[in-house]
Amino acid sequence: MNKKITIAIDGFSSTGKSTLAKELAMHLGYVYVDTGAMYRAVAFFAMQKGFIRKDFFDKESLIKSLPNIKLVFKFNSDLGFAEMYLNGINIEKEIRTIEVSNFVSLVAEISEVRSKLVEQQQEMGKNKDIVMDGRDIGTIVFPDADLKIFMTASPMTRAERRFKELQKKGDKVTFDEVLKNVEERDYIDTHRDDSPLVKAIDAIEFDNSNVTKQEQFEKVLKLVKF
Ligand code: DC
Repeated sequence: MNKKITIAIDGFSSTGKSTLAKELAMHLGYVYVDTGAMYRAVAFFAMQKGFIRKDFFDKESLIKSLPNIKLVFKFNSDLGFAEMYLNGINIEKEIRTIEVSNFVSLVAEISEVRSKLVEQQQEMGKNKDIVMDGRDIGTIVFPDADLKIFMTASPMTRAERRFKELQKKGDKVTFDEVLKNVEERDYIDTHRDDSPLVKAIDAIEFDNSNVTKQEQFEKVLKLVKF
């Protein structure tokens, strides 16, 4: 069997990781996996079950329920990307709300959640050429990835992008709320004990605050030499 190629794209929230990863995967004919969607799905499950709400988090109940969480990506050919299913139900829209964004970093701190999802992610990359984005892909999930990209942009730039996206979807949210969420997630993601967000030593860093999507795509494509 030919060696399978893995491209790992890590970085802060709303840096355009998934847009870049999706475009690369489509261009190269690889499978794209959005690992943030998996953490979001677990957060959504915890919200549905009443394990997490404002100022309350019953971590133990979530940990006990982990075997009841089945996550599957199903490709939607009309959209051109895979959607997230939780126990057979399409939750792609539900996981993109500000409520889920507000809780997801707390869920992603839990080691039991991380080891379950990391195992599934490693399995997904076993027999396929893959572009995977997240926070720990180049460090934990695929430390031997063929190409590692680490994306950054200023919190202000990222909040502006996210705010526009949420407004487009009709989400009633203020800019300050989005900026606060971006800053809080940065803090939790970089300070958690298990697999904090760090740049892998061999990752190539991109600050895309002042770069168009097209320029960024072309720069990264030049790095694909396999
Ligand atoms: O990429 P995103 O914003 O959809 O990710 C949602 C959250 O999930 C983010 O705040 C951190 C967490 N996450 C993680 O801890 N590890 C990953 N590989 C992907 C996401």
